Amino acid sequence: MADRESKDSDKAGTLPLQTQSGVQPESNPGAAPRGIGTIAVHGGEARPKLGNALATPIVQTATYTFANTDELRDHFERRIERQEYGRYGNPTQRIAEQKLAQLEGAEDCLLFASGMAAITTTLFAVLSHGSHVVVTDDSYRRTRQFLTQVLHRYGIEVSVARAGDYEAIEGAIRPTTRVLVSESPTNPYNYIVDLERFGEIGRRHRIKTIIDATFATPFNQRPLEFGIDLVLHSATKYLGGHNDLLAGAVLGSADLIDGIRGLQAVTGAIADPFTAYLLIRGLKTFALRIAQQNATSQALAEFLQSHPRITAVYYAGLPSHPQHNVARRQMRGFGGVVSFEVAGDLDATSRVVDACRIPQIAPSLGGVESLIEQPALMSFYELTTEERLLVGIKDNLIRYSVGIEDSDDLIADLNAALERP
Ligand SMILES: Cc1ncc(COP(=O)(O)O)c(C=O)c1O
Repeated sequence: MADRESKDSDKAGTLPLQTQSGVQPESNPGAAPRGIGTIAVHGGEARPKLGNALATPIVQTATYTFANTDELRDHFERRIERQEYGRYGNPTQRIAEQKLAQLEGAEDCLLFASGMAAITTTLFAVLSHGSHVVVTDDSYRRTRQFLTQVLHRYGIEVSVARAGDYEAIEGAIRPTTRVLVSESPTNPYNYIVDLERFGEIGRRHRIKTIIDATFATPFNQRPLEFGIDLVLHSATKYLGGHNDLLAGAVLGSADLIDGIRGLQAVTGAIADPFTAYLLIRGLKTFALRIAQQNATSQALAEFLQSHPRITAVYYAGLPSHPQHNVARRQMRGFGGVVSFEVAGDLDATSRVVDACRIPQIAPSLGGVESLIEQPALMSFYELTTEERLLVGIKDNLIRYSVGIEDSDDLIADLNAALERP
């Protein structure tokens, strides 16, 4: 027994975190498919891990050593897979990527320092001078800004089409169009894009399709199954889930991800090992969190819909939502963001936000703590009311990111806030 113990610990002492490549996804071809909760806990993680640890070790190193020049040659000739230098990846990051790839049903995943790093590097990787992009209108403000204000400086043209107007999307396509980009659900209006239709337009024109699925997460929607080429996430939101990390991810075929990885090695917006660790840890409770956030958001949306001070509710789980049927076809749940409009002006709406006691005022969404914001006074603060209206943001709009607090408490709190004059 003593013998065995010492042998095991010897082995553990020299065991790489995963394999040489840093990846040893659990592969058992004959095994029954696993549910999303099981993948969230175990996906991408080797058994055993370094030192027989149960939790994934954080490999906090900037560089990786080679035993000799032969190993160096083997690495560069791709005869072995291993880590080389921190900007090209690290083992903890690779485990997080494998877990996310399994959750999304993707061949591969690449992690970034933020959602925006994922979006910008992905677009730079698939576009070049003289190419053209079609993007749908309702989307995260910084994504819009990158597309409409930054890319043209590099000779890339961008057309904006209404999300849901598939004729306009197709009509905007040119011989130089390389990608169609959209969110679904969109931020902040929870507009739902018909993924099958969007993907089909792309395939027919031999154009890549990209969906930012941050609001949905792979618990609620897996765009690759509907023929989308690349899925983007701000992992800062639901994937991390605890409002304590910034990260982004792009997922798709190994080929496409490889090309993006090549550019990331140059531009350098990598996720550091500690962030990757936090992400792996946050993902353990992914399925529980999203199921709870879906259920509470549905209840909150229904409550709001029947409240006399609320003039509009934007939540795809409501049968009154214009794309409810599309959402039901392609989503398992409708997510944790409920956007709504209060009867009254900018100030009356601010009073409702200020009167809430549980959700805190902050940008971001998707974590365990509920957050509330008035987009006119957060992301779009520097615009005038008229300018905001041009981009579709009304002064009386509230975006509520539902956390995992008790549903009844959140509804009672919002009810009390709406009762105040
Ligand atoms: C839909 C969506 N995509 C991308 C981003 C950007 O992500 P990050 O803040 O991680 O850079 C956000 C941030 O709010 C978002 O809501």
